[in-house]
Amino acid sequence: MFESYKVSKELMPSDPRFGVGPSLIPVEYMEKLAKTGTELLGTSHRKPAVKNLVKEVQEGLTKYFNLPEGYEVVLGNGGATFLFDMIGLGLVEKSSAHFVTGEFSSKWQKSHAKIPGVNAELKDAGMGNGINPEFVEGHDMICATLNETSTGVIITDLPDVRDKDVLVAVDGTSGAGQVPLNLELCDVFFFSPQKIFASEGGFWVAIMSPKAIKRAEKIAQTDRYIPEIMSWKLAIDNSRKNQTYNTPSIATIFFLNEQVKAMNELGYEKVIEMANKKAELIYNWAESKDYLSPYIADKNFRSSSVATINVDEKFSVPKLLAVLREQKAVYDIDSYRKLGKNQFRISLFHNVTYENLEKLTQILSSAIEENL
Ligand SMILES: Cc1ncc(COP(=O)(O)O)c(C=O)c1O
Repeated sequence: MFESYKVSKELMPSDPRFGVGPSLIPVEYMEKLAKTGTELLGTSHRKPAVKNLVKEVQEGLTKYFNLPEGYEVVLGNGGATFLFDMIGLGLVEKSSAHFVTGEFSSKWQKSHAKIPGVNAELKDAGMGNGINPEFVEGHDMICATLNETSTGVIITDLPDVRDKDVLVAVDGTSGAGQVPLNLELCDVFFFSPQKIFASEGGFWVAIMSPKAIKRAEKIAQTDRYIPEIMSWKLAIDNSRKNQTYNTPSIATIFFLNEQVKAMNELGYEKVIEMANKKAELIYNWAESKDYLSPYIADKNFRSSSVATINVDEKFSVPKLLAVLREQKAVYDIDSYRKLGKNQFRISLFHNVTYENLEKLTQILSSAIEENL
């Protein structure tokens, strides 16, 4: 099956990168970076060239998300996985409640549960289901994942705990920028930049409310052991100086800045609208074919950045994707490995164009329909 399938010239996408982790980095960004020559890469991150870049990212994100007064853009090395531990250690006083919708939210809960003196309660929606976080008595942090990359489930609402000594922390890794969220209700909104923000991995961004910064300062004064590399105080102090605590990848910050600038040209509302249009295209396509069905049954929780589409078991997704990869037509739309489904998981990230997604649906349909 599929061995003889050939993608026609007209259907060949202009970019084969439809994967959700990491996402495509526009080739123009790479060319622009190359043009910086001796002025950026290989220069000190404590000197103006790099510090100005960091400042531009911080100001760009503040503008893009229209951040409330007093919120700060904190940056560091290590990625969102690193923050799972850093948040548990440095921002949870006694107990966090975790609304789990897949593998990444589950990993986050497990990270907190391992910390001595921290309780981490699990509120599990079950694979493929959505759940919105709620205030739960007895916890000083509520944790949720904006877009569960493993399942393609989003959250659509946050509880309002602004009058309580409770923080709302949201992992925005694969949703930040195009899955809407009211940041006024969020104290820690963090993400790695290798998804919608079109950069490389190994870096994190945490948008923090004044309440979250205060919590960090309070916990830093207790006798809890926090490694220096995970110190919120050091991360915040360095970010205020447009630096990171230890040496960052400058290319990562450069790509992130290019993407923030591009997204700011369109604005938050427009980017969301474009994402919704792409989501509509993919889910309508899946619903129109007998051999496909959206994995997430409840439309309210279907992601506008990662679409998961079940495929009839008669048609082997791994075999089809191997053939498409060989032709350099489509990369990396495999299902999340631990989910074990015969499924496409397709990136709707900002740089994946509507036109290429249209071509993708036509490629996948024609390949499968040849074998009906
Ligand atoms: C929702 C979510 N959280 C956390 C992570 C981990 O990010 P990183 O690999 O940058 O640590 C990922 C990675 O794909 C993710 O999708």
